[in-house]
Amino acid sequence: AHAAHAGEAAAATTPAGSVVSVADLRTPAEASPTGDVKRFALTAQQQVVTLEGVGTVNAWSYGSVPGPEVRVTEGDLVEVTLANRDIGAGVTIHWHGYDVPNGEDGVAGVTQNAVLPGESFTYRFTADDPGTYWYHTHQASAEGVQRGLYGTLVVLPRGGIAEAVDLALPVHALGGALLMGDATTEQRRAVAAGARVRIRLINTDQVPRRFRVTGTAFEVAAVDGRDLNRPTAIEDRALRLPAGGRLDVTLSMPNSPVRVTTDASPRAGLTLSPGAAARSDTAIEPHDGPDLDLLGYGTPEAAAMPEGSGTVLASMVLDRLPRFRHGLPSVAYTVDGAVFPHIDSIEVTEGDVVRLTVANRGWETHPMHVHGHHVLVLSRNGVPASGSPLWLDTFDVQPGEVWEVAFLADNPGIWMDHCHNLDHAAEGMMMALRYR
Ligand code: C2O
Ligand code: CU
Repeated sequence: AHAAHAGEAAAATTPAGSVVSVADLRTPAEASPTGDVKRFALTAQQQVVTLEGVGTVNAWSYGSVPGPEVRVTEGDLVEVTLANRDIGAGVTIHWHGYDVPNGEDGVAGVTQNAVLPGESFTYRFTADDPGTYWYHTHQASAEGVQRGLYGTLVVLPRGGIAEAVDLALPVHALGGALLMGDATTEQRRAVAAGARVRIRLINTDQVPRRFRVTGTAFEVAAVDGRDLNRPTAIEDRALRLPAGGRLDVTLSMPNSPVRVTTDASPRAGLTLSPGAAARSDTAIEPHDGPDLDLLGYGTPEAAAMPEGSGTVLASMVLDRLPRFRHGLPSVAYTVDGAVFPHIDSIEVTEGDVVRLTVANRGWETHPMHVHGHHVLVLSRNGVPASGSPLWLDTFDVQPGEVWEVAFLADNPGIWMDHCHNLDHAAEGMMMALRYR
């Protein structure tokens, strides 16, 4: 029997409503970290942004597009105060891929009310999972994120990383141009030959993006904020990054330039040049290699599968169905033929292992995002994952595909699972994971 329905949580969006159950799940003040307190203040606002070679865009921002980088160290207590200056739709901050306590998850109508103009809200969590994440609004999120309410979250391990050069590159379509970081044109950087480099690619868009790293061999060191087990050096492989996903690329700077490009833009790109002078006049041979298949990349590890006190089997069939909305023909993005909030929640008890099968019967890719948890990929289309254990928070279920994943229910609360094509989520492809 389903104890409660996700729709009830969504109904709590009424301005006067307060969500009592999850307030208890906010980080207690005495969850005292061993590190420092890192404080950030973000002001959501309407902002006219000037993009080089493009013109001006009426954006929504957390002060800049992308928002200020939130970069902290493992052990820090992170405290981010969000104020809303004038975004009438309201805003929140959802820490995408960072498994915060439920009350910090930033889902308007579920874990908090939207922050309206003139209001503020302070998020607090301890940074104990090093890796690459991002943040974005979770109120009117399809419009809000596209217009610029997003930024990077990086948690460095306590001892730092092995790479001397560390670049985060959130990639986002804005005003008809592609932003890589904050640039719509080629960026150049001087990097000493021999230096180790980490490039954190973050797809903040609705659609998958493909990247190429040319000029040297490289490794994919981490995916969705989780290190891969002994990744091997590769060359001539394109990297496909689902909407919402992250890839950390590491490399040793050679004596010649290295370039990072994407199919999504002929203009935006990053060129690393050895030595002091950041030249870009050396031709780089483009490659046209196939996509790297992450399910077979890296080194397998025994006992990756979490052990739980119980097992929950769950499944989702994704599709697109015609419907009428406001009297007009429209489409619904469905889970098991229904739209949120009319989709049964997955109900779990803390300690359960959840085995989830997701099948895509439609014609469009659905990057499924799981809040509050990382899932271990077991198989795709019946073929077992054969590389490094792959722990993802966003997995791209392409047309016709069936994915099997598993995760440990170790983070109590009410969590949303949804397509990260946020237009699809807004048209129904969203459901809840609930702890009893
Ligand atoms: Cu990145 Cu529910 O979102
Ligand atoms: Cu979708």
